[in-house]
Amino acid sequence: MKKVIGILVGSLRKESFSKKIANTLVPMAPEGFEFKLVSLDGLPVYNQDFDDHNEVPEIYTTFRNEVKALDGVLFVTPEYNRSVPGVLKNALDVGSRPYGQSVWDGKPGAVFSNSPGNVSAFGANHHLRQSLVFLNVPTMQQPEVYLAKVNELFDENGELKAGTKQFLQGAIDAYIVWFKKNAA
Ligand code: FNR
Repeated sequence: MKKVIGILVGSLRKESFSKKIANTLVPMAPEGFEFKLVSLDGLPVYNQDFDDHNEVPEIYTTFRNEVKALDGVLFVTPEYNRSVPGVLKNALDVGSRPYGQSVWDGKPGAVFSNSPGNVSAFGANHHLRQSLVFLNVPTMQQPEVYLAKVNELFDENGELKAGTKQFLQGAIDAYIVWFKKNAA
């Protein structure tokens, strides 16, 4: 059976660079793997009352079940105010509850960050890693993926340029090795 790796994107924006990168990663899955985009659209802000009072939004249950069924998780994220965009942090929070039933537990992960700026979302990348440590997501350390000036990495057809694609393919190959070492 194929191993299914979820790709979660820290942006809801239609023309998001992060989404375009995520879409480029989908066909990079090697044999025996499937890369699947996990939508964060419409996920309400986490409120513990939902779980404590049995009022769990249906979309939480759908999201939690979808992540639970994954074998690994790849995060593609921009940076908001030097940290993780709320939409992605919220998704981590939703998946982490109810207490003791986190859907993230033990799934090998990787973080790919990007920005039109020079700092390549380093702050978001590492703040995300802080949560992933607590959530017990063994996260690939090398190679690091920081894409600076992301707006310059696409050609006139909107495709990622060959050099960047090649770099990302190398990171995916390394992630697959990481996955095989760390999968339960
Ligand atoms: C940003 N942006 C930004 N960029 C960055 O490199 N560091 C930062 O701290 C921030 N902060 C920030 C806050 C908010 C609220 C917004 C809306 C944007 C710019 C950001 O990198 C840019 O809008 C990206 O294009 C967003 O990613 P997507 O949507 O293209 O994936």
